Amino acid sequence: MSRSIAPGRPVRVGLVGCGNVSGQYLLNLDAPAVLDVVACADAQPARADATARAFGIPRAVAVDQLLADDDIDLVLNLTNPAGHAEVSLAAIAAGKHVYTEKPLAGSLAEADEVLAAAAARGLRVGCAPDTFLGPGLRRCAELIADGAIGVPVSANAFMMTAGPEAFHPAPEFLYQPGAGPLMDGGPYGVSALVALLGPVASVSGASTRGRDTRSVLTGARAGSRFPVDVPTHVAALLRFARGAVATLVTSFDVHGTRTPRLEVHGTTGSLICPAPNAWGGPAFLRSAGAEGFDEVHIDGGEGNRIGMGLLEMGSALQQGRAPRASGDLGRHVLEVLEGIRTSDERGGGAVDIRHGYELVAEGGSRA
Ligand SMILES: NC(=O)c1ccc[n+]([C@@H]2O[C@H](COP(=O)([O-])OP(=O)(O)OC[C@H]3O[C@@H](n4cnc5c(N)ncnc54)[C@H](O)[C@@H]3O)[C@@H](O)[C@H]2O)c1
Repeated sequence: MSRSIAPGRPVRVGLVGCGNVSGQYLLNLDAPAVLDVVACADAQPARADATARAFGIPRAVAVDQLLADDDIDLVLNLTNPAGHAEVSLAAIAAGKHVYTEKPLAGSLAEADEVLAAAAARGLRVGCAPDTFLGPGLRRCAELIADGAIGVPVSANAFMMTAGPEAFHPAPEFLYQPGAGPLMDGGPYGVSALVALLGPVASVSGASTRGRDTRSVLTGARAGSRFPVDVPTHVAALLRFARGAVATLVTSFDVHGTRTPRLEVHGTTGSLICPAPNAWGGPAFLRSAGAEGFDEVHIDGGEGNRIGMGLLEMGSALQQGRAPRASGDLGRHVLEVLEGIRTSDERGGGAVDIRHGYELVAEGGSRA
């Protein structure tokens, strides 16, 4: 059963998972012609009630009720990574499109299950991150496509922090399988690189762990200690199908850095891009032989624009086309990240990426 949206009608959204990031989404989803958030639910009902009150969402309901509500076209899945596949599969079984936070699922096998279930029912899957849709990385992708740095040769992407306990009041899940810096920060780095350089062909990785326990640093539970169950510093090499080679480092073990966040170097120039988790600029271009960098003009995208991918998916559903921050891209990103982990666990060596992915261009055709 496919669920089509009549032209001009907003997509009716049910939010599942009313935690830390949900407020950032709800602040940004202010496009009544495209999306209408009609209900919210959480495994902890008090969170759904508080979110409905704070953001004027008409109904706070149980998850089962939300899924059974025939009025809802799309489930926005903002649960923790361990719940992504389960909630997405339940939403698809209930005949709803899904937009999920990253990673698409806890494993590639689960991701395939989600995508196959959606395809069988004629439903669409969207997946964060959506920063590559922001004006900053989009402008960089255009410059590369237009030959501004010649043929891309190499890239560096760094997602390095001292850890999410600096801002998250319940950071434990980010140190459990399904998260860690590789699965939490990695999706930003890999989707930005894929947007700039095309599909990844093979990967290798190595990791370490700075500490075996950490402490909650903010909120009511500050001071409470918890175990670290994943590597917290992961270095990776990515070989792209079109020939470029990239270094990707994701870390929760870096207290400060002056490393640029994302750079692409080509045969005739270098492009310093916005960070992989930024929607706006700045960006800088230096052509071979030039004295220094010129700033690239980028309009807009400042601040936290999370939800841009869902808004784009809303328009895509209205137009009957695939979303750009798609489940297929989320699957390619997950295969890359799992490949890095597999290479690390084997003690090194390249892992081939079996399924490539070409980005959907603005308006729905393949880039
Ligand atoms: N916090 C951020 O700044 C941030 C930024 C970008 C992406 N994300 C991603 O967003 C997702 C959510 O992160 P968060 O920080 O909001 O986490 P959180 O722990 O603060 O909130 C998750 C919420 O989901 C609920 N939940 C979990 N499993 C559920 C289920 N099966 N059914 C119903 N409710 C369920 C929890 O009760 C909780 O309220 C994660 O995938 C994370 O990687 C978070």
